[in-house]
Amino acid sequence: MSAIIIDGKKISRDIRHELENQIADLRREGLIPGLATVLIGNNAASVSYVRMKKKACQDLSIYNECIERDASISEKELLSIIDGLKRDSKIHGILVQLPLPDHINEKSIFDAIPPEKDVDGFSPVNLGKMMLGEDCFLSCTPAGIQELLIRSGFPPDGKHVVVLGRSHLVGLPLANILMKKAKGANATVTVCHTGTKNISDYTRQADILVAAMGKPEFITADMVKDDAVIVDVGTNRVEAPETERGYRIVGDVKFEEVAEKVRAISPVPGGVGPMTITMLLQNTVKSAILSLTRQ
Ligand code: GUN
Repeated sequence: MSAIIIDGKKISRDIRHELENQIADLRREGLIPGLATVLIGNNAASVSYVRMKKKACQDLSIYNECIERDASISEKELLSIIDGLKRDSKIHGILVQLPLPDHINEKSIFDAIPPEKDVDGFSPVNLGKMMLGEDCFLSCTPAGIQELLIRSGFPPDGKHVVVLGRSHLVGLPLANILMKKAKGANATVTVCHTGTKNISDYTRQADILVAAMGKPEFITADMVKDDAVIVDVGTNRVEAPETERGYRIVGDVKFEEVAEKVRAISPVPGGVGPMTITMLLQNTVKSAILSLTRQ
């Protein structure tokens, strides 16, 4: 393997150390940042993500209220839970884990989270502010990818970034963040999606390729140029009867062969995943700090 491995765990640890200092300062002022995580149903990936978020809060002494309800909960009941969290001064961030059961309208739920507690950065107000370049909560995975690139020594400035996927969670906000006229951004961004023909024509031009389309091991060595930097956002469960769990997690990139060719690559797991959680912690601390200015 010739590529540099972009170590999301190490970079996350560095950022979490920086956050620890801010949290200690807040504690001295009598303020403990608080995050509410809301988990509906028992989707295996969601259960695992929420568990990781809870552990990360514990590690940093962030107060965490974990609300878990059966998938049969009504939309009205869930809205009432959010209303309670909205009024709770111990809670600075509200995270409703996606996906939600089909009978619940995601938009109604996210519209109910007040922008000042929307640490996921999904509310229309935060997305709108992001588009306008105003201070806001940036959604965690895109913010984590930007930070990962900067801190690993591959800043996007002046580069051609090709983003695969246009989801509201990753592709869409990431394209917006990286094309901003600002240090640590300022990239030329191409977004490819299910309507793109001959996707390799674009991926081969990428200085930085971000694979976020949720297709296991879709990106192969022939699709990338040899000095490219690859960020793999995919977290796909594929059957693996030979393993104890019966599955393994792979990214959207065929890691072994692509890592033989490119300049740098983020692994799955251990790349973008830890950064997403770290950005959530960062947004929660930021929200707690901002709450002081509103008192
Ligand atoms: N499900 C998968 N990723 C995310 C995320 O970043 N935030 C929330 N709320 N749910 C998710």
